[in-house]
Amino acid sequence: MRVAMIGTGYVGLVSGACFADFGHVVTCVDKDATKIEKLKAGIMPIYEPGLDSLVAKNVEEERLFFTTDAKDAIKDADAVFIAVGTPSRRGDGHADLSYVYAAAEEIAQLMDGFTVVVTKSTVPVGTGDEVEEIIRKARPDGDFAVVSNPEFLREGAAIKDFKIPDRVVVGTEDERARNVMKELYRPLFLNETPILFTARRTSELIKYAANAFLAVKITFINEMADLCEKVGANVQEVSRGIGLDGRIGKKFLNAGPGYGGSCFPKDTLALTKTANDYNSPVRIVDTVVEVNAARKKAMAGKIIDAMGGDVAGKKIGVLGLAFKQNTDDMRDAPSLDIIPALQAAGATVQAYDPEAMDEASHLLSDVTFTKSAYEAVQDADAMVIITEWDQFRALDLDRIKGALNSNIVVDLRNIYAADDMAARGFHYFSIGRPS
Ligand code: UGA
Repeated sequence: MRVAMIGTGYVGLVSGACFADFGHVVTCVDKDATKIEKLKAGIMPIYEPGLDSLVAKNVEEERLFFTTDAKDAIKDADAVFIAVGTPSRRGDGHADLSYVYAAAEEIAQLMDGFTVVVTKSTVPVGTGDEVEEIIRKARPDGDFAVVSNPEFLREGAAIKDFKIPDRVVVGTEDERARNVMKELYRPLFLNETPILFTARRTSELIKYAANAFLAVKITFINEMADLCEKVGANVQEVSRGIGLDGRIGKKFLNAGPGYGGSCFPKDTLALTKTANDYNSPVRIVDTVVEVNAARKKAMAGKIIDAMGGDVAGKKIGVLGLAFKQNTDDMRDAPSLDIIPALQAAGATVQAYDPEAMDEASHLLSDVTFTKSAYEAVQDADAMVIITEWDQFRALDLDRIKGALNSNIVVDLRNIYAADDMAARGFHYFSIGRPS
């Protein structure tokens, strides 16, 4: 199959590289010439484990191409994927679909022969209808079908999630389009991955429902963590105790500083907007949006309390800035709420993150970025873990103790065992566990 991927952001690039690795011929199109030049030279615009070698291999084997010129890519394609950004619109929180519609206009002008137009970007219910209308208006004679095919990739694990997914969802009632989609994903069906064919609007909603449900799960356990702290219970054991019930499931029950990233905050908000527009509010998600935003803000208070209630003139060593491990993505990262609040309370901050410091340096001011975790805690009055990078789990804790000015550790990801930390002489604070 020949595939054109419009947009080389996170989703487009990973999906394009993985489709190429399945054996399809994929051309990734982006208007950003610098990005395309860099991709051609093997330089990735994002940090994603395994992506650079996957791209290099498929470029070398001539199945993966990068271009700024959509013309040939779309003309020759069996399937054109729209994988452009859908950021939250300033002011009202609705998804901004201008890039999606611009892509639809362009496809309409350039497609040739039966073309399956696939929305991979996360788009509100009904967007497929709009895309179809745009193309139909521009090309009344056009032979095409518009399909919804949401992605469920996690940053940091995206290649595995693409190649070994729990399911593939395809929203279309067009038989020819179904066959093209089946062919594209054929390698997965050898592994018996379920493919779910639905109506287009259903597929669009599945994406939002999945992300919102996961956000509910995280927010639920975060509130349980707060309760655990008050009643002297252990949230990790609560997670395990409920998660072993197959109806609940043990994944996404890790309490932390609140969810961030490019998807959950944006998608939960967009879902609530759509629901309100249709006068069918999803009140549980309204609450989750509110509770999560408040949680990220409250985390600085937790750190200040652990440090005795006053951080004026104190130095804090922060480990981890990205919204989660294995990514350089800083979008809606809890660190962006926590660090400015600590600074506003009079603290100075030294921070280390294995991948996100470059990005963070544009978003945070007056932070000293260091070359290692040990340097970040040097002469600091507390060590604070915001992101759960694996390398922080295996730190030389005696060295950390020697570097710190105090023995205070605030761990917002529960990566250490409380009794072990106490035995090592730390005054250790974590989330939802007795300290
Ligand atoms: C999420 C979904 O997991 C993907 O399935 C989906 O495709 C993607 O959004 C998307 O819509 O594009 P991602 O944002 O990469 O993926 O990250 P997650 O691993 O889901 O984590 C999201 C946030 O929840 C992070 O801030 C993470 O630290 C937090 N989290 C996650 C917790 O606090 N506790 C958990 O148990 C799990």
